[in-house]
Amino acid sequence: MARSAGIIAAAGSGERLGASLPKALVQIAGISLIERAFASLSKVVDEIIITAPAGYEDQFRVIFGESAKIVTGGATRSKSVHLALEAISPDVNFILVHDAARAFASSELAEQVLAHLRAGEVAVIPGIEITDTIKSINVDNYVTITPDRKFLRAVQTPQGFTRALLIRAHGAQEEATDDAALVEVLGEKVKIIAGEQSAFKITTKDDLLTAYHLVYGNKTKEFKTGVGVDLHAFSSDPSRPLYLAGLKWDGEVGVDGHSDGDVAAHAICDALFGAAQLGDLGSNFGVSDPRYAGASGAILLGETLKKVNEAGFIISNVSVQIVGNRPKIGARRKEAIEALSDALGGASVSVTATTTDGLGFTGEGKGIFAIARALIYKI
Ligand code: CTP
Ligand code: MG
Repeated sequence: MARSAGIIAAAGSGERLGASLPKALVQIAGISLIERAFASLSKVVDEIIITAPAGYEDQFRVIFGESAKIVTGGATRSKSVHLALEAISPDVNFILVHDAARAFASSELAEQVLAHLRAGEVAVIPGIEITDTIKSINVDNYVTITPDRKFLRAVQTPQGFTRALLIRAHGAQEEATDDAALVEVLGEKVKIIAGEQSAFKITTKDDLLTAYHLVYGNKTKEFKTGVGVDLHAFSSDPSRPLYLAGLKWDGEVGVDGHSDGDVAAHAICDALFGAAQLGDLGSNFGVSDPRYAGASGAILLGETLKKVNEAGFIISNVSVQIVGNRPKIGARRKEAIEALSDALGGASVSVTATTTDGLGFTGEGKGIFAIARALIYKI
């Protein structure tokens, strides 16, 4: 039987979503969008090429191992697909191009697209009927025409093509918002088949909420909140590195303590465990458990997120305040927020800091203290 390949475009930054990590790595219930898109498509095609954002290739390789080829994406979606095309095995006949952002498109939809290719179509794309009336406008915002809604479709991915046609289309024109548009320019027939609501594209925060509803059902939100604190004394060993808020602080003396001593990360873990009523850092990871002896704050946050998600909760936001004379947080606040948010699957994180006017152990420069609050919810 003819061989098929899937390209998953996942190299976008997700600007409109506004998360601190690329959109494809944003998690819903502990599973990233790219993993979800891969899970559906890999059931249908023989090989998969994923375009990763520059700098994230290794992270993608860790997720997928041998099961997908990872290539660095380009500056636009079309360029990313173009680059992925070059990595497809020579014996592949049919190619399905998919968006990581359409993480909930079903395997059945991909199967339908492929079936139409096998039946002789050269380009097959899913589309859904439009319920709104669509207007075409000019640059001055005046309506030019109102196309008949009956003949309009909102199109989705995966879009399927014969290999030769897709390569020819990408060779003839560089840019379009989908691959079918490149094929249309060549005058080739593009067949629309019935799309599905769940193949919607996750673009904004509202779309993410729609995705949560898909996973968890549309129930009333049940909010829970928790607090966590952690403190450690500065080490008497001046060569001990300092880890705080998911970052390594060069030139600063570290703290004594279990694992890497990241008080901000540990306070957040306890706040999350507290909110989800899942015990605390000690009861989950065990001070005596050798697996966590050198664990980084990021790893503990990731494990905590997994447990909180498994209990059916989603993080609304996490706020942590670091109390101490040093290090100075302000200059690296953005980096700290990003590191903590990445470790928590893209959750909303804020980091504040204060000194204590020379009072107490933090004021005397003896150690660092952190207090965190987490808000989580079930939907
Ligand atoms: N994409 C890509 N390479 C790019 C741009 C986008 O592979 N240079 C991918 C995205 O990762 C996404 C799909 O194309 O899965 C559809 O793009 P879109 O939803 O616009 O995602 P982003 O470009 O990441 O989002 P935004 O436009 O809001 O930045
Ligand atoms: Mg985009």
